[in-house]
Amino acid sequence: MADKKARLTVDGLEEVIELPVYTGTTGPDVVDVRALTSKGLFTYDPGFVSTAACESSITYIDGTKGVLLHGGYPIEQLAENSDYLEVCFLLLNGELPTPEQKEVFVKTVKNHTMVHEQMTHFFNGFRRDAHPMAIMVAVVGALSAFYHDSLDIDDAHHREVCAFRLIAKMPTIAAMCYKYSIGQPFQYPRNELDYADNFLQMMFGNPCQDYVTNPVLAKAMDRIFLLHADHEQNASTSTVRLAGSSGANPFACIASGIAALWGPAHGGANEAVLTMLQEIGDESNIDEFIKRAKDPEDSFRLMGFGHRVYRNFDPRAKVMKQTCDEVLAELGIENDPLLKIAKRLEQIALEDDYFIQRKLYPNVDFYSGIILKAIGIPTNMFTVIFALSRTIGWISHWSEFHSSPNKIGRPRQLYTGPTKRDYEKK
Ligand code: SDX
Repeated sequence: MADKKARLTVDGLEEVIELPVYTGTTGPDVVDVRALTSKGLFTYDPGFVSTAACESSITYIDGTKGVLLHGGYPIEQLAENSDYLEVCFLLLNGELPTPEQKEVFVKTVKNHTMVHEQMTHFFNGFRRDAHPMAIMVAVVGALSAFYHDSLDIDDAHHREVCAFRLIAKMPTIAAMCYKYSIGQPFQYPRNELDYADNFLQMMFGNPCQDYVTNPVLAKAMDRIFLLHADHEQNASTSTVRLAGSSGANPFACIASGIAALWGPAHGGANEAVLTMLQEIGDESNIDEFIKRAKDPEDSFRLMGFGHRVYRNFDPRAKVMKQTCDEVLAELGIENDPLLKIAKRLEQIALEDDYFIQRKLYPNVDFYSGIILKAIGIPTNMFTVIFALSRTIGWISHWSEFHSSPNKIGRPRQLYTGPTKRDYEKK
């Protein structure tokens, strides 16, 4: 219920337009502008910089303070005390699970990890050097073909089954993308292993020898999944919500999220960070790249830096940096040259007025790639890992959208093209 009002006067309009103002549990108030259409007006906000597209209770970000809460829990505390599947439960249900609930949740995920054997044939249509994200978009979208007639999106239980299938099958499909690219046989999931360990087994195991678990790497992998799980109304999540608003099959909606995530301005940045660090090659070249990043005539941007919402450190980047140090120490590669370049780059950028004035800080993608590379995951798989992790965020928002009355999303525009004219042959 609105307890506040905004009043708008527009030149040429006699009346003062009163608009309801809503207050959430925290964060900025929102002005309900829906009445403007009846006055012959639209709002104008390219890139949705100032637009609240929906009401949600899943995740809250305070960009000024560098705060990220899932169900009210700070990401730093979840990274320290929780694990990915527990956060999946939290994002889906709004509360942390009891030990009993968690046991049932984990067991249910484990019982959905295999994909239909027919799925394996999809891969053969791709060249071995196809980008794994291209394969991921196609194969996840194809899951629609296996479940399209068994899903009533207005049925909460059907939505829950769909969530379990996606949480469980994304690691299997991601690992299949990798195995296909290196010409090795697909590894079946092993239900005795924990989620992250099972993923690493499907990535690096093979029929010729038993897979040996490294608990430090498995923990780091789970932490990476957790840190990428959800992030409010980012580009890919907004894409999933918009696709879902037409009533599309949830697997097709998740495929649309994967496609949106792939861009280097979004989830593709982790792959771009590694490519950038490798291109810099040596600390002596950093100044040249900082100069390019600041040059308005040069399209180069410092990948892994900046964020639409965070005007402070991305809290996930701080945890990622700490995890990076832990993994490299475990592997005895504290002197990783790329890490040294990354740390020096961060230090220089954070002292440079251009970045300080624009409040450009390292984001979640800046250190993740160094950890993934140390674990042995190839650069072109980094965004696949991001998509795997973010699936829970996408499906939680998709489910939230369908759990209350909703309308198809249909933005309008400021039209600047030709007005009506009659057809005349040229
Ligand atoms: C993710 O939305 C989410 O929550 C996303 C995400 C999630 O979890 O879902 O957090 C994941 O996508 C993180 C962001 C990953 N992307 C990158 O690291 C790519 C590099 N970053 C930039 O492309 C950029 O910072 C964005 C896209 C992330 C944000 O862009 P904005 O908010 O549209 O900011 P902008 O382009 O308007 O930039 C403001 C100014 C501009 O300079 P001026 O025009 O004022 O002179 O800052 C400059 C930009 O040129 N700028 C950068 C820069 N980022 C912004 N300059 C150099 N290097 C950069 N990285």
